[in-house]
Amino acid sequence: MSGTETERANRIDPTLAFGFTNLPDNRQREPLRIVRGKGVFIFDERGKDYIEGASSFYCTSLGFSEEELIEAAVKQMRELPFYVTAAYRSVPVVEQLAERLAAMAPMANAKVAFAATGSEANDALLKFLWYHNNAMGKPKRKKVIARLGSYHGGTIATASLTGWVKYHAGFDLPMAGILHTAQPDYVQLGAPGESEEAFADRMVADLRALIEREDPETIGAFFAEPVSVSAALALPPKTYWEKITALLAEYEIRLFDDEVVTGFGRTGNTFGAETYGMAPDCMTVAKALTSAYQPLSAVLMSEEFYEGLERGSETVGMFSHAGTYHGHPVPAAVALRVLELMEERDILGHVRAISPHFAASLAKVEDHPLVSRSRSVGLAGAVDLTKDGAEAGALGAEVAARCEANGLFIRPSGDTIVMAPPLIITPGEIDEMFRRFRLALDETL
Ligand SMILES: Cc1ncc(COP(=O)(O)O)c(C=O)c1O
Repeated sequence: MSGTETERANRIDPTLAFGFTNLPDNRQREPLRIVRGKGVFIFDERGKDYIEGASSFYCTSLGFSEEELIEAAVKQMRELPFYVTAAYRSVPVVEQLAERLAAMAPMANAKVAFAATGSEANDALLKFLWYHNNAMGKPKRKKVIARLGSYHGGTIATASLTGWVKYHAGFDLPMAGILHTAQPDYVQLGAPGESEEAFADRMVADLRALIEREDPETIGAFFAEPVSVSAALALPPKTYWEKITALLAEYEIRLFDDEVVTGFGRTGNTFGAETYGMAPDCMTVAKALTSAYQPLSAVLMSEEFYEGLERGSETVGMFSHAGTYHGHPVPAAVALRVLELMEERDILGHVRAISPHFAASLAKVEDHPLVSRSRSVGLAGAVDLTKDGAEAGALGAEVAARCEANGLFIRPSGDTIVMAPPLIITPGEIDEMFRRFRLALDETL
């Protein structure tokens, strides 16, 4: 052990190993402890309030402490707190939710498989792809292409899909067969004078070159979010999705749509696929499905894709994929109530009505000397920071720290600040959010 006796005596001995921290830091600093939440606000153990401007990892779409969701959970706990859905047994509430999701999915006669987390849903989808292709006589089509800068999860397969070196380093990832192509980040990667359409053409040409290099017969799917919030909200340039879709169709590569963040209203439509005109074969959902009050995720599949799973199951004798908590009745009851509340309260209408105010508030901070530009879609927004001579990422980290000090949580991504408040936010709360944000910018300056 190093350090003086006093340093050693003051050292914290953390029991909790938690992610997205530098572990040794946890011996020097206590975490900020959040004990309560209400609407868009959360409170720490000293009673200080914060606006959750990123919905705690883009999750709590209906805000904190929504009594209707608590009631739905309690009611289900009383009725049947748990039963596994597997081995020819199911629970009605789980089937009801599957029906409801299938009816919402942008594929005819969609089929639904549940899991607990977004990572697990993406992981399962990759597994299903292999199973499907083995059953359908295409055993070579196993590789998957994802995009640099996008986050898809923390399991071995989904951390591999994730296009960030920092999620691979030290873990021996990415695993074989997972490839990455460029994020269509027009702001960062567009060449001087290049139009959005020309940039989209370049992205498609890059993807084509990768497919050709790898052998098109070995590629099974392209995995992407409609708009990658994790890639600092890189808005897809005009014509990107229609051109990518055509390219994938040409090579018979499936489009897998990760709607873990964009699903259930974030972009102003139920799914981001609708906002950007994507026609996916399969999609994954999580987070806002239960407003994150309970862990639940799902894979939504086209009928044709599902039939490949049936074929595989017939060959093997059983579909050997299940999980103790896949289709847990309590999260299912909460999710059903979320979907009802979204309709009863016209959450989509609210997002559409309020997003111009959100966009205008973002645009207004562009007058700040530390801000170079802003962008948004629905209730997801981003602000790019700039200062001559600043080390990459330093401004983002400082502004995030100043936001926290001023009672606002946002997500820094390098020198971009990403905001995605609960979908129930009011105009007054947006104003308060940006008042706190400007204070943070001023202090950083
Ligand atoms: C787009 C996307 N996909 C998948 C995941 C993984 O979800 P989870 O953290 O529930 O495993 C995340 C998590 O933030 C995400 O942003």
